[in-house]
Amino acid sequence: MGTGYVGLVTALAFCHHGHRVTCVDIIPERVDSVSRGKAPFYEPDVAEALARHLGSGLLDATTDTAKAVASTEITFLCVGTPSSADGSYDLGHLGAAARSMGEAIAGLDRHHLVVTKSTVTPTANRSVVLPAITNASGKEAPAGFSLASNPEFLREGSALADALAPDRIVLGIMEGDQAARDLLEGLYAPFDRPLLVTSLEGAELIKLASNSLLAIKVAFANEVANLASSVDADGYQVLEGVGLDHRLGPHFLRAGAGFGGSCFPRGLRALVAFSRSQGAPALLPTAALDQNEVQPAVMVDLVRKALDGNLQGKRVALLGLAFKPDTDDVRETRALPIYKLLLEEGATVVCHDPRAGSNFVELVREEGLAHPDVREGLDEVLREANAAVIQTEWEEYRLLGPAELVSEMAPPRAIVDARRTFDPYMMRAAGVTYWGVGLPPP
Ligand code: UGA
Repeated sequence: MGTGYVGLVTALAFCHHGHRVTCVDIIPERVDSVSRGKAPFYEPDVAEALARHLGSGLLDATTDTAKAVASTEITFLCVGTPSSADGSYDLGHLGAAARSMGEAIAGLDRHHLVVTKSTVTPTANRSVVLPAITNASGKEAPAGFSLASNPEFLREGSALADALAPDRIVLGIMEGDQAARDLLEGLYAPFDRPLLVTSLEGAELIKLASNSLLAIKVAFANEVANLASSVDADGYQVLEGVGLDHRLGPHFLRAGAGFGGSCFPRGLRALVAFSRSQGAPALLPTAALDQNEVQPAVMVDLVRKALDGNLQGKRVALLGLAFKPDTDDVRETRALPIYKLLLEEGATVVCHDPRAGSNFVELVREEGLAHPDVREGLDEVLREANAAVIQTEWEEYRLLGPAELVSEMAPPRAIVDARRTFDPYMMRAAGVTYWGVGLPPP
């Protein structure tokens, strides 16, 4: 249930291993789009896999939950859990999906397993999903139906590859429900990945803790890089040195403009809300959220310094609007605070992204700001710009040579690289005025 990143990509991963999957969504346009082989979002390899599995007959899509439940053994709940005002996950869609599962299960004469993949607050399966199914079905778990938790760890931009080869598969199983455990272990056997079986709450907390620790790592890397830039040290080299310690590892130490996307900021907020509900202070996730708000301003500081202390009347190219490369997703993108700060200081901002331009226009409109100047052509955006900020490290940008980057720009032709997209030493050797995250000034 749910044809977003998690739902559709999970479906494709199961089809890859020969399982038959019916995608269910309450939005008819989404079902229609999936049935016609069009994914509702951009994600590498998804369009090809969708066409393949529709063609082979392993995949279909419907709005009819009861029909889908009647013809399958397991339902994965993959509906959205946005942030609510206090930072906790809004479980409204999940509760509604669980109720419709219960209604479908009521009429079944055989066992059905419901598995929550949506990211939830710890205890939500037991306190929200379970009672919703129980009440609507009139049956008790595990005799009448089963409920399990199976959090998803895929990243946008590499979603299908991640779903096919996860580092681990976590199964939260209810006490004594051996049948659910056997069914899920069998389902995942072809994936041949490490499998961890926990309680429902254990699985929920593994997901929240993993995302939060990754985000905390990024926030710490940003602080270290900022510190390095104030002395004669290269922040990226410092973090490389840190990551070479096998106890720490090199991953998620790329300093930049901060983390965006639908998962890290939302997950940290949810962990803060949940910790406080348990009387715990949530010091680390709170600090990571605070650090993340600082980072766009650090990037705009670099632009200001590069433009002699004043942005008034300057033309700035903003390259990269998606929250990360290889996606058209702009949720919580750091491009938005950078864009707003640049405008506030009087700059004219011209924007570009290989995929996310129209989504950024929509996001800026939702903020109540004037229509942003988003151009299709990279050359148009760079032409006459005094500075260019690289916010998303798209491959398309990486491939630009120093001359292609700056030759059409206007003095001082400053590059402010918020993601270490380019080799700073090569850029500086080629005469580019290159400012970057974690680097001392040129
Ligand atoms: C994240 C997790 O990595 C997934 O394991 C998880 O399944 C997913 O959230 C989720 O909960 O659905 P995602 O948000 O798609 O995945 O993307 P990431 O690659 O984790 O990047 C998140 C943000 O952190 C991006 O803005 C990225 O630019 C930033 N980041 C990441 C850094 O600034 N530095 C790094 O070293 C790594």
